[in-house]
Amino acid sequence: MLAVNFRGPFRIRADRNRPDPEIKHPQDAIVRVTRSLICGSDLHLYHGLVPDTRVGMTFGHEFTGIVEAVGSGVQKLKVGDHVLVPFNIACGSCPFCKQELYGNCHESNPEATAVGGFFGYAHIGGGYDGGQAEYVRVPYADVSPIVIPPGMDIEDAVMLTDVTPTGYQAAEQGGIQKGDTVVVFGAGPVGIMAARCAWLFGAGRVIIIDHLDYRLEFAKQYAYCEAYNFKEMDDPVVFLKKATDWYGADVCIDAVGCDATGSSLQNILGKQLLLEAGNATALHWAINSVKKGGIVSVIGVYGPPWNLVPMGSLMNKGITLRGNQASVKRLLPKLIDHVMSGRLNPKGLITHRIPLEEVPDAYHMFSAKRDNIIKPLLIPPRAYAA
Ligand SMILES: NC(=O)c1ccc[n+]([C@@H]2O[C@H](COP(=O)([O-])OP(=O)(O)OC[C@H]3O[C@@H](n4cnc5c(N)ncnc54)[C@H](O)[C@@H]3O)[C@@H](O)[C@H]2O)c1
Ligand SMILES: [Zn+2]
Ligand SMILES: [Zn+2]
Repeated sequence: MLAVNFRGPFRIRADRNRPDPEIKHPQDAIVRVTRSLICGSDLHLYHGLVPDTRVGMTFGHEFTGIVEAVGSGVQKLKVGDHVLVPFNIACGSCPFCKQELYGNCHESNPEATAVGGFFGYAHIGGGYDGGQAEYVRVPYADVSPIVIPPGMDIEDAVMLTDVTPTGYQAAEQGGIQKGDTVVVFGAGPVGIMAARCAWLFGAGRVIIIDHLDYRLEFAKQYAYCEAYNFKEMDDPVVFLKKATDWYGADVCIDAVGCDATGSSLQNILGKQLLLEAGNATALHWAINSVKKGGIVSVIGVYGPPWNLVPMGSLMNKGITLRGNQASVKRLLPKLIDHVMSGRLNPKGLITHRIPLEEVPDAYHMFSAKRDNIIKPLLIPPRAYAA
């Protein structure tokens, strides 16, 4: 089959000779991919920032597909079902899945204790191949995948596998109270969705910070928020304090993660010398610009090694710092309702529709933030026209 083949940092191939996946366990399904997306999380892999990303891996954790085969134990899914597959691989029965912490399944990832398995996310994510391919093996097929609701656009459906629930959870983790000022760092798809969802929780003011003007413009339109370029500020923390009567924001959301820009020191330490897990500048700004007693919601991804975070501010300001991988399954019923009733429009974030054969160019463009890209969608050659 045709699938992404990772050859090393900044080297992605569209490989026509990858073996078709096979059923390995009675709970597996094989899915023929109809749409997949490239995520900011894939860029951490692409940039070589994630430990144990092995040559030969197929990335892709956001996809829809048609069930082609099921293992003998699968009861819910049938051959021919068109499903959306949440990015978390979850067993559904361990203590953490029972608490709906599907991103923290204790069974699906033999390589880590903090997080459960993910599709196409290095060996620290369990080593599962992902959906930037024509076919994928989907373990625990009865647990997380769901049939795409009738009448839902396939592009909305694929946006429900990660970005939409992740943005929503970023806002939810912020514990937003009515009238709160919410600052979102990062105007990528996740940050823009978080800004949009902040209003659903009753925010009174939403501000987004990035350094890419085209994304700030997009965010203003899509999420009805204020948008500012940190490259035009002497100090983003002072700017935000000033914008909030010197109190600080009620809630800060880090939707950037370990690939931030904005501090040369952190760049050298974390991205060139690899002495810490990437560049945590957005997290610094979030912690330092939230008010005393405020909440920082971290949805941007940080790897397991040591990070230079401002623990002093965190401790002395009594900040509640919350983070997690999104629990997609828990959120799906609510989000499907928002999409079907027109309150959320996830496919509005998709700016590029690219054949899977051209995936190396798609990574390059997304990484370099060329051509006003927000969210690239990949279409495999065997996907039916939807
Ligand atoms: N927790 C989860 O479940 C989950 C799921 C999906 C994605 N993520 C993570 O969310 C983050 C965002 O994903 P995305 O797809 O939107 O990525 P993206 O790379 O498209 O967007 C990141 C944005 O942050 C901006 N940025 C860089 N440094 C900044 C700084 N110091 N301050 C403010 N903005 C800055 C970039 O210009 C870019 O627009 C990534 O870290 C990704 O791994 C987490
Ligand atoms: Zn993703
Ligand atoms: Zn589990």
